[in-house]
Formats: sequence, C-alpha cells, structure tokens
Amino acid sequence: MHFQWYPGHMTKARRMMQENIKLIDLMVELVDARVPYSSKNPDIDELARNKSRLIILNKADMADAQVTKEWEAYYKEKGFFVAKVNSQKGTGIKEVKKLIEEACREKKERDRKRGILNRPVRAMVAGIPNVGKSTFINSFAGKACAKTGNKPGVTKGKQWIKINKNVELLDTPGILWPKFEDQEVGLRLAWIGSIKEEVLNTTELAVELLGFLKEQYPGVIRERYGVEEEAEPVQILEKIAEIRGCLMKGNQVDVEKAGLLVLDDYRSLRLGQISLERPEKSAETV
Ligand code: G4P
Repeated sequence: MHFQWYPGHMTKARRMMQENIKLIDLMVELVDARVPYSSKNPDIDELARNKSRLIILNKADMADAQVTKEWEAYYKEKGFFVAKVNSQKGTGIKEVKKLIEEACREKKERDRKRGILNRPVRAMVAGIPNVGKSTFINSFAGKACAKTGNKPGVTKGKQWIKINKNVELLDTPGILWPKFEDQEVGLRLAWIGSIKEEVLNTTELAVELLGFLKEQYPGVIRERYGVEEEAEPVQILEKIAEIRGCLMKGNQVDVEKAGLLVLDDYRSLRLGQISLERPEKSAETV
C-alpha cells in the first residue's frame, strides 16, 4: 500500500482528480485524525472549488479524542461539514449519512431554483494513500458496494454506488498527494507509517517521536518503558534498547531495533491514543 511519489504519479493522480471532480457535487475528503493537517492535500481547495465539502477525520479511534474535537471545531469554522469516523468499526458512519443529507438539502434547493428535479447528489471520496479510503467506502456503502464490485465482463467506466435515492458515490476513490515540501509534514506522515518517505532513518524517526512524546504527552514513555523522561531523547532510546534487550553482537545496544519497537508501539496504539498535531500549532496555512 505504500507509495513512492514521483512527479509522474502526481501528474496522473491530479489528472484523474480533475476529470472526476467535474462529475460530482460533494467532495468527501478523508484525513487521518492523528494528523488532520499533514494528511490534508494542499491543492484540493482549488480542485474542489464550488463543491460541497465534507471532511472525515478517519481513524478517530487512534487519535486523542480531545484533540480531535478541536480539529472538528476548527474545520467546521472554516465552513466544512466534519465527521469523526472509525471506518474499520463503522463508528460515526451514521453521522456521515446525516451530514450528506444536509449537504444534499442545500444542493437540492439550488437545483429546484434552477428547475432541476430529482437529480441525485454525486459524491467522491478522496485522500492521500493509506488514509482509509477503501475501508471507508466499504463501511459507508455497505452491501450496495458489493453489487457494483469488479465483475468480469463489466465494461470499465465510471461506476456509481447508489447509497439511497438522494446520493450516489463514485466507486473509485481519488488519490491525493501529500505536501512534499514540508519536512515537518514528512516527519509526521512517517511516524504514522502512512507513506514510505525516507525523511529520516528509523533511529532518527524514533528519537524525534520520543522528543515529541516527552514534550506533549508527559508520562507516556515512563509508563510504557519504565524509563525516566528527563534525559535527551537519544539517551531515552538507548535506555529502552537496554531494558528491552535490543542488543547487537558484543552486547552493544541496538538503537535501530529499539527505534522500530517504539514506532511499532506508537502505530499499534500501545502508547495510547496520541494526536501528532493541534490546530493552533500546525494549521495556520490550512
Ligand atoms: P486507502 O484506501 O486510503 O489506501 O486505505 P485503506 O482503506 O487500505 O486503509 C489503510 C489501513 O488503514 C488499513 O490497515 C485499514 O484497515 C486501516 N484503517 C482504515 N480506516 C481505519 C480506522 O478508522 N481505524 C483504524 N484503526 N484503522 C483504519 P492495514 O493494516 O493496511 O490493513 P488491515 O490490517 O486492515 O488488513
């Protein structure tokens, strides 16, 4: 599932988006609730100009609930419809349906004024790789999804999943590209394991993460690893390696192995629900 982005990939993805956006009324944009700024595509505002916009804070089960609330308020204030979702479990999907109904009402009203009746609202799902687009579509469209699945012999073309009498969803999600130029963004996307980007090596990634945790979630490192948090992050990692028996030949501590362990612990929620950015700190430019 990991993507290595090259200019060619980006051009192709952009072209696909431009073609499909013409067909829709509502853009359902998935972001990762742990990094709602870093996982948000910078060009979508331009691409989806004049469309109704719904932001899904997906993987909400992995994020800090309090911080997710702040993001919800933040994007609402910017004029988006916003929902928190766990696509794996289907939590929040009902709310999404309600919000789409709301968005539909606005559109239907506009249609009615122009004399257009009974045209369903067409929507598409888009987001950067690994944000949960397929999982969300399955959860959202439920059984309807299976009907339009890849049947042999069906001509390739745009397939619309009929959600109900008001809404149709494009069955293929739009793939968006991340903000490449921002190192901080690269770092956060690497922390969540979303995109294989060689921003830093494993050890450095883990050291940076420990630094972040120590600052933003004091007590988490101590609780998980039994290591005091006053030391520098590099020393904390060495200590974790020691305690967890990550050793190389000659009994030297293997910090790279310990780094992998820390990253894996974070990504598997063994450090708890932790958000990596807050609206006021990271989103001035959203
Ligand atoms: P994509 O289409 O945007 O590329 O993403 P996809 O649906 O393939 O989801 C990427 C990974 O994220 C999958 O895990 C998926 O199960 C997981 N995921 C999606 N939504 C949620 C969510 O709301 N909460 C949590 N916790 N996870 C979510 P995977 O490890 O790649 O596959 P698998 O272990 O589920 O088989």
